Amino acid sequence: MANICKNLRPISSQINGVRHNSQWFTGVKMGPPDAILGVTEAYKRDSNPKKINLGAGAYRDDNGKPWVLPSVRTAEERIFQKKMDHEYAPIGGNADFSKLASELALTENSSRIKEKTNATVQTISGTGALRVGAAFLSKFWPHNREVYLPNPTWGNHVPIFEHSGIKVQRYTYYDPKTCGFNFQGCLDSIKNIPEKSIILLHACAHNPTGVDPSYEQWKELSSLIKKKQLYPFFDMAYQGFASGDIDRDAQAVRLFEKDGHDYCLTQSFAKNMGLYGERAGAFSVVGKSKEEADRIMSQVKILIRPMYSNPPVHGARIVTEILSDAELRALWLKDVKLMADRIIGVRKQLRDNLVKLGSSRPWNHITDQIGMFCFTGMTPEQVDTLAKDYSVYLTRDGRVSMAGVTSKNVNYLAEAMHAVTK
Ligand SMILES: Cc1ncc(COP(=O)(O)O)c(C=O)c1O
Repeated sequence: MANICKNLRPISSQINGVRHNSQWFTGVKMGPPDAILGVTEAYKRDSNPKKINLGAGAYRDDNGKPWVLPSVRTAEERIFQKKMDHEYAPIGGNADFSKLASELALTENSSRIKEKTNATVQTISGTGALRVGAAFLSKFWPHNREVYLPNPTWGNHVPIFEHSGIKVQRYTYYDPKTCGFNFQGCLDSIKNIPEKSIILLHACAHNPTGVDPSYEQWKELSSLIKKKQLYPFFDMAYQGFASGDIDRDAQAVRLFEKDGHDYCLTQSFAKNMGLYGERAGAFSVVGKSKEEADRIMSQVKILIRPMYSNPPVHGARIVTEILSDAELRALWLKDVKLMADRIIGVRKQLRDNLVKLGSSRPWNHITDQIGMFCFTGMTPEQVDTLAKDYSVYLTRDGRVSMAGVTSKNVNYLAEAMHAVTK
């Protein structure tokens, strides 16, 4: 602080002919641009008609355009007809939304839901859910205030926990040699985590790697995590988006519940309903007693009130409309499957094209990995060449957002990837 103050130099500017001196923020350094938004900026500047943006994690249709789900359109029309008001939501958001969201994750038949042992609040999408969860654990976790994140993980996990005062540690997850799950390394690494720590698990469609444990591997992870008395924190941002089946994608969370774990859960409707900008999500603390859930709920609301007071209403209304109506829900399940199937389809086309072009590299991970992202194994230098010579943009860790691949650009993408990886 003393150093910053010593270096303060008044900066002069002329406003309406009057000289103003600003000295308060001269110590603020220019921060680096967001890695993913930086990719989109570079893409926008490129005038090549063949350019492809594979940075952004948002679904695109086969014409490369944002897609509003037909189920969402219908829900919006119904909401419009209802002529609803714009009053504040309660601090914990729309209670019907929270109930439907937790049932979507755990099923209506979950004993925790039936006995109301989950404290669930509506949040500002998945990021907001993680932030509320981190704030809750920072204040109330009675043991070691450290969270163990998979290596690698979604970049935002790190600052979300750090901003909340929780120390971030890592556990082994990905194997760069196979572009797959390092199961043994993961088990060995978890064995070394101090007991009663928090462990973050991507429920499905791991971001950025697209690599998920199999059901059998989840079983072993569940039993080890129980033995070590670790506290699972599930981040479920892609339910339905990975396999096209919402039940299949929730299998890890439901397995842990069956195995008797208490846990936290964050949910997002950004991807599976295409409600990116509407910010509809949920945070749950799932325990075994209603009395405990009620106490937790009261404290979560106390944390939310000074953060953002209450969540936005529109996105949660859309989700509620869809999940509470059998006909709309069935339509939505088809929409989700259509998105997942398109992604699965372009994965296959990309791999087939690379093989056809004679690439000697094993590209089976393109189709083995699931969800929106593919961790290609390309080096930062290869990624730079893709941008420079082919106008193909992705993050330097080699992560491709498969949502940006279409039947129209997949051949060109394969040619470009083959050329830089020869
Ligand atoms: C792993 C993971 N968690 C959470 C989120 C949160 O997304 P949102 O805040 O848009 O719901 C994302 C989004 O990319 C994600 O990939």
